[in-house]
Amino acid sequence: MDPLRSSFLFVFVFVAAIACAQNVTNSTYDPLHSLTWTTGNVFAGATMPYGMAKAVADVDSDSNQGGFTSEGGKVTGFSSMHDSGTGGSPSLGNFAFFPYANCAGDDVNGCTYPKNARKVSYVNNSVKASPGYFSIQLSSGVTVDMTAAHHTSLFRFKFSDSSNGSPLVLLDLTDLANSRQDNATIHVDGPSGRMTGSARFLPSFGSGNFVAYFCADFHGANIRDSGIFANSRASADVKDLKISRGINGFPLPGGGFIRFDSGSEPILARLGVSLVSSDRACSHAEAEIPEFDFETTQKGAVDAWRSKLSPVKVSTTGVSASLLTNFYSGIYRTMVNPQDYTGENPLWQSDEPYFDSFYCLWDSFRSQIPFLTILDPESVTRMIRSLIDTYTHLGWLPDCRMSLCKGFTQGGSNADVVLADAFIKGLKDSIDWDTGYAAVVKDAEVEPYDWSNEGRGGLDSWKALGYIPVQDFDYKGFGTMTRSISRTLEYSYNDFVISQIAAGLNKTADVEKYEARSSNWKNLFKPDQTSFKPNGVNTGFVGFFQPKYLNGTWGYQDPLKCSNTDLDPNSICSLQNTAGETFESSIWEYSFFVPHDQATLIYTFSGPAAFVRRLDYLHNQNITYIGNEPAFLTVFQYHYAGRPALSARRVHSYIPAFFSPTAAGLPGNDDSGAMGSFVAWAMMGLFPNPGQDVYLITPPFFESVSVTSPLTNKTATIRNLNFDPSYAAVFVQSAMLDGEVYTKNWVDHSFFTEGKGARADARAE
Ligand SMILES: *[C@@H]1O[C@H](CO)[C@@H](O)[C@H](O)[C@H]1NC(C)=O
Ligand SMILES: *[C@@H]1O[C@H](CO)[C@@H](O)[C@H](O)[C@H]1NC(C)=O
Ligand SMILES: *[C@@H]1O[C@H](CO)[C@@H](O)[C@H](O)[C@H]1NC(C)=O
Ligand SMILES: *[C@@H]1O[C@H](CO)[C@@H](O)[C@H](O)[C@H]1NC(C)=O
Ligand SMILES: *[C@@H]1O[C@H](CO)[C@@H](O)[C@H](O)[C@H]1NC(C)=O
Ligand SMILES: *[C@@H]1O[C@H](CO)[C@@H](O)[C@H](O)[C@H]1NC(C)=O
Ligand SMILES: *[C@@H]1O[C@H](CO)[C@@H](O)[C@H](O)[C@H]1NC(C)=O
Ligand SMILES: *[C@@H]1O[C@H](CO)[C@@H](O)[C@H](O)[C@H]1NC(C)=O
Repeated sequence: MDPLRSSFLFVFVFVAAIACAQNVTNSTYDPLHSLTWTTGNVFAGATMPYGMAKAVADVDSDSNQGGFTSEGGKVTGFSSMHDSGTGGSPSLGNFAFFPYANCAGDDVNGCTYPKNARKVSYVNNSVKASPGYFSIQLSSGVTVDMTAAHHTSLFRFKFSDSSNGSPLVLLDLTDLANSRQDNATIHVDGPSGRMTGSARFLPSFGSGNFVAYFCADFHGANIRDSGIFANSRASADVKDLKISRGINGFPLPGGGFIRFDSGSEPILARLGVSLVSSDRACSHAEAEIPEFDFETTQKGAVDAWRSKLSPVKVSTTGVSASLLTNFYSGIYRTMVNPQDYTGENPLWQSDEPYFDSFYCLWDSFRSQIPFLTILDPESVTRMIRSLIDTYTHLGWLPDCRMSLCKGFTQGGSNADVVLADAFIKGLKDSIDWDTGYAAVVKDAEVEPYDWSNEGRGGLDSWKALGYIPVQDFDYKGFGTMTRSISRTLEYSYNDFVISQIAAGLNKTADVEKYEARSSNWKNLFKPDQTSFKPNGVNTGFVGFFQPKYLNGTWGYQDPLKCSNTDLDPNSICSLQNTAGETFESSIWEYSFFVPHDQATLIYTFSGPAAFVRRLDYLHNQNITYIGNEPAFLTVFQYHYAGRPALSARRVHSYIPAFFSPTAAGLPGNDDSGAMGSFVAWAMMGLFPNPGQDVYLITPPFFESVSVTSPLTNKTATIRNLNFDPSYAAVFVQSAMLDGEVYTKNWVDHSFFTEGKGARADARAE
């Protein structure tokens, strides 16, 4: 609960913030010039911060969840909606365009319409990506570049073979996952070439379905003819199509096409998207990109990104270009998702903001949304209002949400942590905290009928027994009856953060109630549990969480099951019905997930030295996997045993070894920017324990870092005395905060809002 309960090995030394702020900025370094995102299923295309229109080339490779990947594959089209860094099925990818310099025999039926038949390779090294811009050359000779406004994308098709023929651009009523449902429609307006329509699709990691609308307009050459295609045939005589989902599981190709007299000038295709209506998609497009002006649209996106990244400045002295790219690219990715769909939510009437693509809060509660709280508190305030409004209208906070649909819950009700983190960090402006509090209390008290999509399961047992039993008797609500250990741990933490909001709202009785429940993690701790490796070697550690039945008898799960070293093909570790008692990780790793009571956990593990040995074993034996979010906090938990230098050393063992701006540079899916936020925090030298007013200090990867609070305009500065670009000297010897000797290994949120200055003197071991 209180990091101060542990003793600390170092002392700090401080200078005034204003004095050192001057030296921090390097005005010749432009972070936007070096961004890269070629890995981790990250969306690589053109978007505004939190933008709804996301334009990119879609490829057919196995990891095309975000549309494009650099691992190869053929381009199937150019679509306008995407998510970023997700796993599983590809997300969105709706309403792709596809260009032809001409059709064989000058006949529209000489072009190839179905996605699988038309796809084409691209020219290696032709891809260019920068904020608000993506460009690629197809092996067919067509070069396509694109930019985006908030709800509108703009594609520019350049035909190398422009001397002869009549270019054709098709618009496909499909998405990346071929999830289109029955009765998609398109109308093509002959004289103008405008295409409008809609289709119903499925979300990629959730329940239900959604309808997306589009409005396409073209510019740059005289229109020769236009019409629709169905399957492999097209006709300019038909302007309307309503198409079925498919036959025998085969998704039926269908959509519109437009042909032009000449391809000697680039042809611009503008696509507005909406989740409300085609009319709305058209009005977005007309308002946002009225003149088809590519450069102005691109400049709008670049300016928006520059402004969003501007609060963070680092000294570039001695720091490699690769590390700088790593850092700013990580920051960039935190603002690709979630997406701001305000005004685009057809599900309920409200004047509140509406954000979507919280994909998933299980990933982003840990460090991404806390990161945005320092960099972009205004947007986080709007996200919190959106989450609360979602509760108001759907009855529950989401744990995951995409494409207007409920996403699957992976563990606890972690929106509770998102709300608590914002609450204790003072986000107040127009947030209805009474309703916010009612929302988190409902998670803790009321079991939903379907807890695969919201809330928590097993609440009767939770309240009566103080743990989630393995093979629980739960007849009030239904969900995947696995993960009893990781759910117990997450519910404990969720209850703790509810107690934090309760304290701020003076709800004294609730503070006691939820603090008491927050210690439920203790009920699954089995002090005599041992852990052996598959080869029979004893890890030497005793005392692990174990599953427990309703009757109080212990069950058993190997503490190394589902760890990074578990090679057993029969280990099922995700949301399957046959999975075990920990979600996507091992009991070993979850052993450390008691973020609110490290003091008791350290005592439970036989004291600070034994705790440090166990953390070392977790990392050194590769039991943990830094490519999944539960690992994040374990990198820094040495702080709680009074060994912050070991956290610093551990950070450098993972960055850049596991996080670098290269093709295979991320250890796992970026998860909507969660990995990006880990890199950004770690390199800044602070790491949040979300839901608590705590940032754990390690030496930054830079001689200095400054962050200007967008709320107060005050600038917080962290300086590294004796900065060592080889990162041998990463052990803080002494520190100062605002000119006073500082002996804690953490700061609180006022560091950012009050613009404090920290200075640490780091030396080699
Ligand atoms: C800025 O940097 C210069 C050169 O490293 C140094 O001499 C000066 O003291 C620094 N100024 C402040 C205010 O830290
Ligand atoms: C592009 O690179 C990929 C992967 O290196 C290779 O398989 C492919 O043949 C290359 N394509 C061309 C057109 O050179
Ligand atoms: C699709 O259209 C057909 C024919 O008009 C109609 O019978 C059917 O109910 C529609 N399906 C859906 C899901 O709306
Ligand atoms: C500023 O950034 C530029 C471009 O990255 C670099 O060449 C220069 O060395 C940096 N200067 C300082 C003082 O960090
Ligand atoms: C809680 O109580 C304190 C002390 O009485 C008071 O200052 C504060 O305004 C109260 N907060 C709320 C939200 O009622
Ligand atoms: C408790 O329940 C488990 C699972 O049904 C069973 O294996 C065990 O024998 C029971 N223990 C007692 C003491 O009845
Ligand atoms: C852990 O993984 C790294 C590579 O990522 C490897 O070099 C090291 O030998 C592994 N350690 C153990 C104990 O398996
Ligand atoms: C911060 O600076 C901006 C731009 O100069 C200004 O509009 C805003 O009022 C300032 N906010 C505060 C709290 O000073």
